[in-house]
Amino acid sequence: MRSELEQDILKVLVTEEELKARVAELGDALYERFEGKNPLFLGVLKGCFMFMTDLVRACQLRSDIEFIAVSSYQNATVSSGKVQITRDLQQDITGRDLIIVEDILDSGNTLAFLKDYFMTKGAATITIVTLLDKPARRAKAVEADLSGFTVPDEFVVGYGLDYRQQYRNLPYIGVLKPEVYSG
Ligand code: PRP
Repeated sequence: MRSELEQDILKVLVTEEELKARVAELGDALYERFEGKNPLFLGVLKGCFMFMTDLVRACQLRSDIEFIAVSSYQNATVSSGKVQITRDLQQDITGRDLIIVEDILDSGNTLAFLKDYFMTKGAATITIVTLLDKPARRAKAVEADLSGFTVPDEFVVGYGLDYRQQYRNLPYIGVLKPEVYSG
């Protein structure tokens, strides 16, 4: 495939094949946990969009989907710590078993905020699934129940993850060349 994005990528961290295999495993793990329970897959936009579509297809449970959009980075490379809801839930989640779907757990600010928010909205249970976990940068005590890959403290993009809204369409997880964001 032709690509004008590739020149900005230092290295591939997780290949398309590795993503596919791991998403299938996560789908199976969720199936085992939620068989017979009708959970709600709740994606955190925008970063989750690619992972969410693959994960729900990898998990053929009776379930429905919902999205919330939040932003705490506002185009910065470090979390501001203030999480803003930019698109709220469009349905009642009272009594629901939630599967929160995130692309990356970094400082933990987003998921710490969302866990509280969903509990106040009446969720019965909350299960956090993140594709990537970057424990080196954790500022809040929040952990995922299921995680795809643990990644080092490098600037990762692709498969939904952005830098200044770009690179989300890369089909793999790559590390951005430092000159792209420091130059
Ligand atoms: C990213 C990512 C997570 C959050 C994780 O979202 O999608 O939601 O940051 O970081 P944290 O653990 O430090 O809070 P971002 O605010 O960049 O918005 P986006 O999903 O639209 O890219």
